[in-house]
Amino acid sequence: MNLFDVYPLYDVTPVSAKGMVVIDDKGQEYLDFYGGHAVISIGHGHNHYVKKLKNQLDNIGFYSNAVQNPLQKELATKLGQLSSCEDYNLFLCNSGAEANENALKLASFQTGKARVIAFKNGFHGRTSAAVAATDNEKINAPLNKQQKVTILPFNDLDAFTTEIEKGDVCGVILEAIQGVGGLDEPNNDFFQQVALQCKQNGALLIADEVQCGFGRSGKFFGFQHHITEQGKSIKPDIISIAKGMGNGFPVGGVLIHESIEASYGMLGTTFGGNHLACAATLAVLEVIENENLIKNTEEVGAYFVEKAKEIPAIKQIKGKGLMLGIEFDFEVGELRKKMIYNQHIFTGGAMNKRLLRFLPALNCTKEHIDLFFNALKKEL
Ligand SMILES: Cc1ncc(COP(=O)(O)O)c(C=O)c1O
Repeated sequence: MNLFDVYPLYDVTPVSAKGMVVIDDKGQEYLDFYGGHAVISIGHGHNHYVKKLKNQLDNIGFYSNAVQNPLQKELATKLGQLSSCEDYNLFLCNSGAEANENALKLASFQTGKARVIAFKNGFHGRTSAAVAATDNEKINAPLNKQQKVTILPFNDLDAFTTEIEKGDVCGVILEAIQGVGGLDEPNNDFFQQVALQCKQNGALLIADEVQCGFGRSGKFFGFQHHITEQGKSIKPDIISIAKGMGNGFPVGGVLIHESIEASYGMLGTTFGGNHLACAATLAVLEVIENENLIKNTEEVGAYFVEKAKEIPAIKQIKGKGLMLGIEFDFEVGELRKKMIYNQHIFTGGAMNKRLLRFLPALNCTKEHIDLFFNALKKEL
């Protein structure tokens, strides 16, 4: 049997990894500023993470949601504390798309409505409603196009008001910092107004924190950069999470505001919240807390921006924390290849073809940043 050929692959075969370094089958080391697409949050093979997962596997790896699993409660408590989202309840699933699928479904259950507002260049996953809310025609099959989704530009408040006031919107989904799209962000006024008008028009606000969450932006959640005049953070009704939360273990989830009531059977999954997934996520949270990684993300991210400003070829620096992009006036496909094959450095791309993305582990250091820029200068 052959593989269903959907991925254009770089010719690199990683066989081991530690911290910021990935090693291929020929023993070549690569610096990982991509993290397997924003997934590696605490570094490859972190000792605490490996120990916790091995230990869990020695005890019990999996049982379904038909029985008690105290690890889920431990995880919900820890996540509530670290994210300052203690007034939410947690539902665990297995990926980012699934998290958004559940978020959108909940919004529809809760409001009894079916239309979704999403934003230009947004990416929410490849399943049914999640892909319909994703601004990419090419990955939407006719089946997906049956969903009622309106895609609007960020920061056009008039367009947003016109649509939300029609009264048929169940949910508005947005990324506080767009990942795949290329690191665009809604401005603060717009985000506040979106939150307010959702409330006024009976729609739920869904923050897709799959990529910008779990500390990557320099705050626990990306939307927490948006503070209201009363000094409080915006309060989404639902927050979706995945990627960095498992540091490579497939896990996703939705934080659901406690004003939304659960009922048996409303959501469900076979694998979601299994013992290994909980152990992996707990290990990530413990490392983020014990090693002060959110502060590190903010500091090292700021250092990156400082260094990037010294390079005239860089036309724009985008993003926050360690979710960063540098924009050139040329397409970066070739540059990414040169960074991999000549400099042995992984970087990321985006829908914006002139943007090189930078998504390292949150314990990346200033020395790593220096290595990156020295290598980049050689290839420019
Ligand atoms: C913001 C955002 N939401 C959702 C997804 C989908 O996540 P997954 O690939 O785990 O389904 C992604 C993936 O890149 C993403 O960046």
